[in-house]
Amino acid sequence: MPRQLFVTTALPYANGNFHIGHIMEYIQADIWVRYQRMMGNEVNFVCADDAHGAPIMIAAEKAGKTPQQFVMDIAAGRKPYLDGFHIGFDNWHSTDAPENHELAQQIYRDLRDHPDGSLIETKTIAQFFDPEKNMFLPDRFIKGECPKCHAKDQYGDNCEVCGAVYAPTDLINPYSALSGATPILKSSEHFFFKLSDPRCVKFLQQWTQDGKLQPEVANKVKEWFSTRQNADGSTSEGLGDWDISRDAPYFGIEIPDASGKYFYVWLDAPIGYLASLKNLLVKRGQSYDAYMANPALEQYHFIGKDIVTFHTLFWPATLHFSGRKTPTNIFVHGFLTVNNGEKMSKSRGTGLDPLKYLSLGMNPEWLRYYLAAKLNARNEDLDFNADDFMARVNSDLVGKYINIASRAAGFIAKRFDGKLGDVSADGAALLAQVRAERESIEQLYEGREFAKVLRETMLLADRVNEYVDANKPWELAKQAGMDARLHDVCTVCIEAFAVLTTYLKPVLPTLAAQVEAFLCIQPLSFGNVSDVLGTGHRIGGYQHLMQRVDIKQLEALFEAPAAAEPEKQLPGGEAIAPTIGIEDFSKIDLRIAKILNCEAVEGSTKLLRLTLDVGEGTDPQGSPITRNVFSGIASAYKPEQLIGKLTVMVANLAPRKMKFGISEGMVLAASHANEKTNPGIHVLEPFTGAQPGMRVR
Ligand code: MSP
Ligand code: ZN
Repeated sequence: MPRQLFVTTALPYANGNFHIGHIMEYIQADIWVRYQRMMGNEVNFVCADDAHGAPIMIAAEKAGKTPQQFVMDIAAGRKPYLDGFHIGFDNWHSTDAPENHELAQQIYRDLRDHPDGSLIETKTIAQFFDPEKNMFLPDRFIKGECPKCHAKDQYGDNCEVCGAVYAPTDLINPYSALSGATPILKSSEHFFFKLSDPRCVKFLQQWTQDGKLQPEVANKVKEWFSTRQNADGSTSEGLGDWDISRDAPYFGIEIPDASGKYFYVWLDAPIGYLASLKNLLVKRGQSYDAYMANPALEQYHFIGKDIVTFHTLFWPATLHFSGRKTPTNIFVHGFLTVNNGEKMSKSRGTGLDPLKYLSLGMNPEWLRYYLAAKLNARNEDLDFNADDFMARVNSDLVGKYINIASRAAGFIAKRFDGKLGDVSADGAALLAQVRAERESIEQLYEGREFAKVLRETMLLADRVNEYVDANKPWELAKQAGMDARLHDVCTVCIEAFAVLTTYLKPVLPTLAAQVEAFLCIQPLSFGNVSDVLGTGHRIGGYQHLMQRVDIKQLEALFEAPAAAEPEKQLPGGEAIAPTIGIEDFSKIDLRIAKILNCEAVEGSTKLLRLTLDVGEGTDPQGSPITRNVFSGIASAYKPEQLIGKLTVMVANLAPRKMKFGISEGMVLAASHANEKTNPGIHVLEPFTGAQPGMRVR
């Protein structure tokens, strides 16, 4: 009986094109699926766009499109990547499709109306609300000053400068990244999935710790049962309830019987796996319910390490407590980096653009081979390294494996009318050795140990090449009376090549198809490694099967594209602030200040302490009145560079208490809108002649 498998990859957010990390995940799953099919198993392999959520809604608005249109446009660009890398999904759907709306709402009702007590409860919580946009703000759309190090423009959940973790409500002077407005705290009713319910805890402990998960994944998950991180960086005991609702406006699925409430995108996203499957089955005229009712159906999800919580806690709980079957397993992979761990970025040069790869005429199966050579069953990061890529493809794939066919096929065609001959004892022994690895290769594929599959296969290719080197067919061809031996040796090569092709076929499907055509055989499968050819079988003429990687291609692939358009007008594109009148401006008292002293601040890498003379005269004791100002310019200046210089300060700014003392004003300095990418702070200095205390107007 063939196994029945339902396999997915994670559903990519529909807010951008695929990057090489997505392609890696699809290639990993595609190899496994192809292997299963070669074993005679029946697989439905599906994916979909993850359409919902606030970021996509906001991106669509920025692009001047409806979210539906925005998502459709992204979806329209998927095909060249999938076809290009020979990724054979049976269906590509969307989480915004009707099947998903229906399934998500039904699953929710099943959770809410659970016969042993509802798993949904409502709580009223206060959250930041943008009064201009009229919407609740997700954490990443709230910015403000870090409560710890006072770095400006930090996100609502953590500070990129000092690494502090906090709640958005801890930010100093928070503002909406959408409108710039000051957010207000507003209460709203939210729907929670009661993961802390003892029924859930018991079920999930069992489900995650019964040995199915990868050990490193199971261990990580185990920690979440004892402690969890709260938004403000503190920790709590045990599983927390999961907030599954968002308020309108939201691009998502409406919660039944709760007007203006939508499912949080992560509630409906994995349900999209089922929606895509259902869509596929219905298109084929099959019954989704009957398919899912099969107790022998196996369900697997390939995902990356960043979304393990959703797939090992929320998703199985959602399925189980809505009375549905839970996944058989979750296969977690690590992250792909490019050329020595450089973080992948869309900016110039660093990443590996999959479409550029294809447009340079690079063979997609080189990439499949290379990634397979690095993939194993563990949740480990892997690096695409250009030199390593070239070495593996040229020396192993082409130099060892393809080479076997090219060494033998010509003689068979020219000297033996394309027909295979008899194999003598030494060749038969070698072939037996090559064929004997079949079971071990199968197990390695089943266990997703692709690197080992390729290592084993290349070791076998080495054995075959040693046999060729020992027998030297090119010399046999010149010797009288050695025709039979030449025929024998070349036949062994072709027979071995067919078996090795079988072992590589899940990784190199197109190459395998070319080989099948050239050998004039039925599709290779694990079941037929010993009987596809045989004495007297006629093969076709050899055509070169695969080129080597040319270093020029790799150079072009990683060459920085022509410099991006120069930035339009304003550095960082920071728009000019709304117009003000002169009366607004005159409220700001700017004065020329002399920097009498400047020193480092102990305990801060950012701040300098300035002692400023703004011409305020002397106190009754006769000492000059000075201002103490803390300024975040330590990255740009050493204290001695500033002492004695004139600058401009805001003299009527309310004094502010800081960790290191009171700051009595602010000196003016220029910086790029994005200090991360364009560092540099430039303190203002007046033309000569200005005196401390003069007003700047
Ligand atoms: N939309 C969610 C998944 C919902 S599943 C019901 C999401 N989308 S994503 O586009 O951000 O990521 C899709 C998949 O790509 C995830 O499995 C993620 O781990 C994977 N990868 C994203 N970057 C990656 C690398 N650099 N390397 C390997 N995989 C990576 O998360
Ligand atoms: Zn900080």
